[in-house]
Amino acid sequence: MNSGTKIRQIKGREILDCRGEPTVEVDVITEEGILGRAKIPAGRSKGKHEAFELRDKNARYGGRGVLKAVRNINEKIGPKLEGMDVTKQREIDETMIELDGTENKNNLGANAILGVSIANAKTACKSLKVPLYRYIGGTNARILPVPVLDLIEGGLLANSGLDFQEHQVMPIGAGTFSEAIRMGMEVYKELGKIIEENWGKHSLNVGVEGGYTPRKMQDPREALEAELEAIEELGYGEKFVLSLDCAASHLYDDREEKYTLMGEKITREEIIDFYKDLVSAYPIVSIEDPLEEEDFKGHAELTKALNIQIIGDDLFVTNKKRLKKGIEQGAANAMLFKVNQIGTLTEALDSAQTAFRNGYGVQVSERSGQTEDTWLADLSIGINSGQIKTGVTRSERTSKYNQLLRIEEFDKTLKYAGENFRRPF
Ligand code: PGA
Ligand code: ZN
Repeated sequence: MNSGTKIRQIKGREILDCRGEPTVEVDVITEEGILGRAKIPAGRSKGKHEAFELRDKNARYGGRGVLKAVRNINEKIGPKLEGMDVTKQREIDETMIELDGTENKNNLGANAILGVSIANAKTACKSLKVPLYRYIGGTNARILPVPVLDLIEGGLLANSGLDFQEHQVMPIGAGTFSEAIRMGMEVYKELGKIIEENWGKHSLNVGVEGGYTPRKMQDPREALEAELEAIEELGYGEKFVLSLDCAASHLYDDREEKYTLMGEKITREEIIDFYKDLVSAYPIVSIEDPLEEEDFKGHAELTKALNIQIIGDDLFVTNKKRLKKGIEQGAANAMLFKVNQIGTLTEALDSAQTAFRNGYGVQVSERSGQTEDTWLADLSIGINSGQIKTGVTRSERTSKYNQLLRIEEFDKTLKYAGENFRRPF
């Protein structure tokens, strides 16, 4: 081994995410003095089966502090990994999984483990003098993702009247990533005018992901109509398609076995019919979490019936075991890729491989509690995901798009996924 790539020190600290909540930041430093730093995001609309996020649960920050996780990094993980080689990512991640010793990372906390895992990858690529996306994907990294822009927000992420969490547009007809972003932002601005005129200027207040939040808008069809109007107004027509993240686990009452939609309690069959009508009326090409997170059968039924991309977020939680169960049953045909749902880079990459090998798409995703760090953008290219969702405006979101714009500028070998977003290769 090149002794320069040995870990000399690992240092964790508590910083803030975009919502002003504490989160973990980690530095991994080599013998040569190379430093990689990673900041870890956190979710709000979380899946039940996600890896365990360790919070202090004491008086500080209303219990949301992460000093216990930081202590685990500095006192347990650091001493264990010192002297190991940063370029052996799998060995590093497996050592932490073993040190934790639980299925869900309940001991050390997935936030502690993931902080070290990502910081380690950043140190490794810096040591080897290659960009992170190239380090992750090697010579095979070649696709720039379609940005999935959450223009109108609802559910747990916003104070609008909408039940579904994200009403997104996808500029699949753009020729390049930068064109996709330009067109997407033009539509965002145009939509702002339409929303202000029809729903009042307070509707321009943005939600957690930087999308609009019309308080009186309750029907997802109104959101889709407004988006289509903005797209048409600019003459973009078929260059855009629509998509949704319904986050349906959060609309579901498991005692009553009913979903709440537009103030009414409806059955699983009724919500499935609602989706069928939506997809036949609008150019929707992708729906994330249309049903609650335990309903693998329902997801299989919808996948078969709709013939569009169905993404499992809370359903799969980037977990290979849950994904395999889904694959066996034909539940969904794409996986949302959120690294902190599983807790190490290695396990997330394994899940993505499993998805691709079984004909499933992979959409790389932020969390609602994001930071200004940009590693997510590199990961989306590294795995040739073909699609990334990281909100629409606000710097913790645009920082990812900006990183992709930079990479597109200096690496001309990369191609925009466009309409092949689900099967980019
Ligand atoms: P979260 O929401 O980051 O709060 O989990 C995003 C999503 O559901 O996709
Ligand atoms: Zn989701």
